Amino acid sequence: MCGIVGYIGDKDILSVLIVGLERLSYRGYDSAGIAVVSDDEISVWKHPGKVHRLAKDLETTTSHARVGIGHTRWATHGIPNDINAHPHCDAQRRFAIVHNGIIENYMSLRSELVKEGFLFRTQTDSEVIVHLVDKYYNGSLRDAVTQTVKRLEGSYAFCVVSALHDNHMIVARKNSPIIVGLGKDENYVSSDVNALVAQTKRVVYLEEETIAVLSDQSVEMYDFSGQPRAHTVSEVNWTAERSEKNGYDHFMQKEIHEQPSVVRTILDTYVKNNEIVFPKLSFSTKDLKNMSRLIIQACGTSWHAGLIGKYLIEELGRVPTEVDISSEFRYRRLLSHADEIVVAISQSGETADTLACIREAKSKYFSILSFVNTEGSSIDRESDGVIYTACGPEIGVASTKNYIGQLITLYLFSLHLGRIRNMISDDVYQKHIHDIKALPVAIENVIAQAPAIKTMMARYYSAKSIIFIGRGLNYPTALEGALKLKELSYMHATGYPAGELKHGPIALIDDNLPVVGIVPKTATYKKMMSNIQEVKARGGRLILIATEGDTVAKQLTDDVIYIPPISDELSPVLAVIPLQLMAYYIALNLGCDVDQPRNLAKSVTVE
Ligand code: AGP
Ligand code: GLU
Repeated sequence: MCGIVGYIGDKDILSVLIVGLERLSYRGYDSAGIAVVSDDEISVWKHPGKVHRLAKDLETTTSHARVGIGHTRWATHGIPNDINAHPHCDAQRRFAIVHNGIIENYMSLRSELVKEGFLFRTQTDSEVIVHLVDKYYNGSLRDAVTQTVKRLEGSYAFCVVSALHDNHMIVARKNSPIIVGLGKDENYVSSDVNALVAQTKRVVYLEEETIAVLSDQSVEMYDFSGQPRAHTVSEVNWTAERSEKNGYDHFMQKEIHEQPSVVRTILDTYVKNNEIVFPKLSFSTKDLKNMSRLIIQACGTSWHAGLIGKYLIEELGRVPTEVDISSEFRYRRLLSHADEIVVAISQSGETADTLACIREAKSKYFSILSFVNTEGSSIDRESDGVIYTACGPEIGVASTKNYIGQLITLYLFSLHLGRIRNMISDDVYQKHIHDIKALPVAIENVIAQAPAIKTMMARYYSAKSIIFIGRGLNYPTALEGALKLKELSYMHATGYPAGELKHGPIALIDDNLPVVGIVPKTATYKKMMSNIQEVKARGGRLILIATEGDTVAKQLTDDVIYIPPISDELSPVLAVIPLQLMAYYIALNLGCDVDQPRNLAKSVTVE
């Protein structure tokens, strides 16, 4: 979850490290710290809180160091104070490390090291790494790291610098992502490409169980037994500008406004002459025709996209589809049959729960198809076939534009399946593509209502709790509305299938409880309206997401947000946008940090 940066070269090292950490700070923001090596000494600065606090402290500090590391933390072991903030050093300050992940056997390693006289200062699991490097150091930093990784269990990407070697640094990876950026007379390290794109577009994604040695002139890779390992240089096509706010107050606001262009980009990428083409799908027509079941697994917002994907795939592609939450997937007995595919959905491509399921499914001989936003991520590289959601960097911790990207790519995939499996006619196929082409303008129309939604939310932000209800394709929309509100505003919220309300939750309804009903004119409209009436009869404060021209909705409440008329299949795309805006404005009213909500991180790289 945390962000790691490293630099070796002639640039102003403090500013390179701070800028890198700022660009990674959506990965974790409990504390931040940096360590640099100069004049055979390690200097460390670290603070609880966000990177800008550290940056402020360093405003008047200069350093002529040429090698350094930095960390922005999402605490797993030990409270987020200055002592537990990374980097961590050994007692003599010969080494400093930053770590992303969890060292699962740290307790036994710690007892062993304490018995041997090593002095521990922090409550973190990470500190054992620096003492192991110290213990095994015998003149070569690389050898010490090679010995160290043999002792570690769990997940890690870590970076080590040493006061004894100011001409190189070492990086090691197992189960956590880390990337090397290649420059001229300089090299970089980063947890993801976001921190690198302003500096270089040439990157090396470290393979599992790799140790990298970086100087300003060279990058060498070794496996965990110390044997040299070849590496591939990739070109990143993201620009630094796409990771800026560009005049918006928040990344989340910018990303909501980017949603029409996300749909346009996906159409440009995958629809050629009105035919859907997925260049990296990798499964043959025969594989897709014979496919007997799809098992989708994902977390959070990506799981909600998966729930909608199930409806689309079964409706258009006619393939039985199951959907699991990744962190639960491993507790079921996976009965593998031929012709089944496990599908992972992930914005970051690094979510540890989702990645672990891919590995588990591969060990049981399933093929893997992934819907991923981040090219070069672990899930991208470990899947047999990939469909990119093509949204560009998503920085706001709450996922918005990527959810739309997931819904549209899942829709196109369902259509593609339906076509290949002869489940839909050419005319129907073309009608669906035509509908998607009309979507960007419809999304713009919904976003244009942001000022009205802002005014409306000024009357709701003091609520204690909000319930979201929907049916069919829009039941997951209700779940997504509730998740957005919880994570951004810390207000209790829950999403329910509207038909389930009467089986218990209806007891919650009184004249204080706002209920958001998602009631576009789809196949479930009449049943939804009956459920809405049940809420109204019990005094619930209704907010309705309805289709333009729905006069019944207006009779039930003054608070109706209208979306343009749209097909059932695309209704979740339009219906979720008012919910994103509602969560955004409630959070702002409550003074919450919408881009970096408390306790969260953008890439959840621990299980
Ligand atoms: C979304 O708003 C969340 N912050 C979170 O639920 C997220 O969707 C989840 O952690 C999955 O991430 P991924 O798509 O990168 O795998
Ligand atoms: N487990 C380490 C800690 O709690 C690293 C966490 C992270 O990846 O940010 O400090």
